Amino acid sequence: MTLFDRVFGGNDAVYGLTEAAIDGAIAQYGADQAVAFPNTAYSLPCYYAVTGTKVTNLGELKEALGVVKTLMTREKRLNDAFMSGVATALCAEFIEVLKYINGAEPYSEPCYGHLADAIIRELGVPLVTGDIPGVAVILGSAPSKEEAVELVKSYQAQGILVTLVGGVIDQCVEAGLKMGNAVRIVPLGKDVTAVIHVVSVALRAALIFGNVTPGDAGALMKYTFERVPAFVNAFKPLDDVVVACGAGAIALGFPVVTNETENIFRVPKSLIVQEDVSKFNATSLEARDIKIKITKIDIPVSFASAFEGEIIRRGDMQVEFDGSRKDCFELVCTKDASEVEDHKFTLVGPDFDQMEVGSKQQIAYIVDVAGKNMQSDFEPVFERKFHSYINCIEGVMHTGQRDMIRIRISKNTFDAGFRAKDLAEVLYANIKNEFDAVVDKCAITIVTDAEECTKLRHELAVPAYDRRDERLTSLTDESVPVYYSCIMCQAFSPSHVCVVTPERLGLCGAVSWLDAKATHQLDPQGPCQVITKERVIDENLGRYEDVDEAVAKLSQGALEHVTLYSIMEDPMTSCGCFECICGIEPFSNGVIIANREYAGMTPLGMTFPDLASMTGGGVQTPGFMGHGKHFISSKKFMKAEGGIERIVWMPKDLKEQVAERLNETAKELYGIDNFCDMVGDETIATDPETLLEFLTEKGHPALGMDPMM
Ligand code: SF4
Ligand code: NI
Ligand code: NI
Repeated sequence: MTLFDRVFGGNDAVYGLTEAAIDGAIAQYGADQAVAFPNTAYSLPCYYAVTGTKVTNLGELKEALGVVKTLMTREKRLNDAFMSGVATALCAEFIEVLKYINGAEPYSEPCYGHLADAIIRELGVPLVTGDIPGVAVILGSAPSKEEAVELVKSYQAQGILVTLVGGVIDQCVEAGLKMGNAVRIVPLGKDVTAVIHVVSVALRAALIFGNVTPGDAGALMKYTFERVPAFVNAFKPLDDVVVACGAGAIALGFPVVTNETENIFRVPKSLIVQEDVSKFNATSLEARDIKIKITKIDIPVSFASAFEGEIIRRGDMQVEFDGSRKDCFELVCTKDASEVEDHKFTLVGPDFDQMEVGSKQQIAYIVDVAGKNMQSDFEPVFERKFHSYINCIEGVMHTGQRDMIRIRISKNTFDAGFRAKDLAEVLYANIKNEFDAVVDKCAITIVTDAEECTKLRHELAVPAYDRRDERLTSLTDESVPVYYSCIMCQAFSPSHVCVVTPERLGLCGAVSWLDAKATHQLDPQGPCQVITKERVIDENLGRYEDVDEAVAKLSQGALEHVTLYSIMEDPMTSCGCFECICGIEPFSNGVIIANREYAGMTPLGMTFPDLASMTGGGVQTPGFMGHGKHFISSKKFMKAEGGIERIVWMPKDLKEQVAERLNETAKELYGIDNFCDMVGDETIATDPETLLEFLTEKGHPALGMDPMM
């Protein structure tokens, strides 16, 4: 049997199953029955991406199957095999979508099945920064459960997002492996067709971040090949269906590594036989050209970005440090070089083994840094990183910041020997690694003594935070000499540029003006460049000749004009990883804002994914704009259209998060008290009529403003 026979045979088999499944569904529900995956704006994302057609009901699904058939040519050429692979993948998507018919929830713990658009957007920044260096798709059953777990954990330790399909899931469950999106191990489903749910992620990434036109299959495959660092590990025995799916993966640029030796044909860099499962990791990374940045830290447990989202339950914790009950804080202090002894560690108070199991304690860590190029403006930038550093420790959870932190250390991690000096080591190694351009020396003091924590919190930390806050409020767009660009997201959105100003942070919410300034200082040729602001064209719109020039250059000519303060005139572009999106609500002359976490409906008749699908990919969409959460209370929020007075609706959760600062801004700008009480949310209205009634009753200022369109 040739490889062609296997691919074609597998494709034919799946096609037959799909046809029968669709016919069966039509017989049961009728051709008008709606079909789509939940929590996506793309209906059947793979079919939509490849063909540009959105399937809405079973009748259309049947028609779509006819289109799939046209891909199934049977010449023995490589392209025919690839297209049959793509056809197999599309059939798999059809079979999977039928599982969701009529609101069914076909997947249950630990399997995820279809992944929401929101999850893909969350992956944007870590994929861009290399925090997630790749995506592994593991298919079938490993020779033993030990080998399965070893392979999965090897990827996890590198920060790679691991998706599982088939028998390997049960092997990991049996071995007691902790799985889930939070630790970057995502079991998709046990049927081979579940593999489509990761393909769907890759193709939606092209639509969301890459501005690929649905139906442009060539551009789609180019995008996944160049920008989605995925690969497949398939365990033997491979049946023809798996081989056909593999051809689809290869068509998208994802190499397949397998331990199958029979009836298999090697294709350099694409279909690779590796009989030794313990070498799957190395072989895969090489085939996909994935480089792992490792921070080698000498501590008794793992340190990897995959552990960043890990949750430690109360029952599993050895000890907890709780800033809401005890005096805790984290602080970076800039010192003179003569005052800092590099890599010095001091512990003031008891170590973790002298604390009662399950108790609440106090902790403070002071990180003294010195360096010729160090500036005190960088202190908060470093400090904000502590959250991620400490979270990346296996079995350690960190939330909050400054003097409102909470840290939990698990029993397992404690039993492995993790102590205060290890916490210090993690901070030291990461600071030195990430900020080597400005930090020459770094010393860490950990304080667990109750009296000392209290004293230092009030005498050292709080005054330092106050000084910084004063500095931050004095930072306005007018008061600084330059802005910064950020093009980190160009890895996924080739024409996207963020212009970061003190009053407008990057739309991902992760890059403030100070962050951008520090990034520029650390890596002058890197993603953040200085943008001068000397040649103002229109102050109100935030239009500058300098900004236009910078944006034109950095977008390679894709953008000519960008304003900083308008949502209607040349608004800033969006890559896809925005925290929030705002869009105009014509009935009230206002705008609504939805955040990524919000799963419900908005008064525009669109969900967050729907709104987001209109505005990503580095293109300008007047009337819609992605932005960070902090921007909502900024005096520069759509200043050109009248500012925050235009906000008429937000999800309740988001409103609560921004209320304090938003109310302050409204008071200061317009003299309005408790502005947030005038803003609708989903408990008040999810349709424009009810919203309008509410706004009228509250006398919302937007109603009296000029129309935006
Ligand atoms: Fe991406 Fe903009 Fe955030 Fe930079 S600031 S990481 S370009 S969203
Ligand atoms: Ni952790
Ligand atoms: Ni982005």
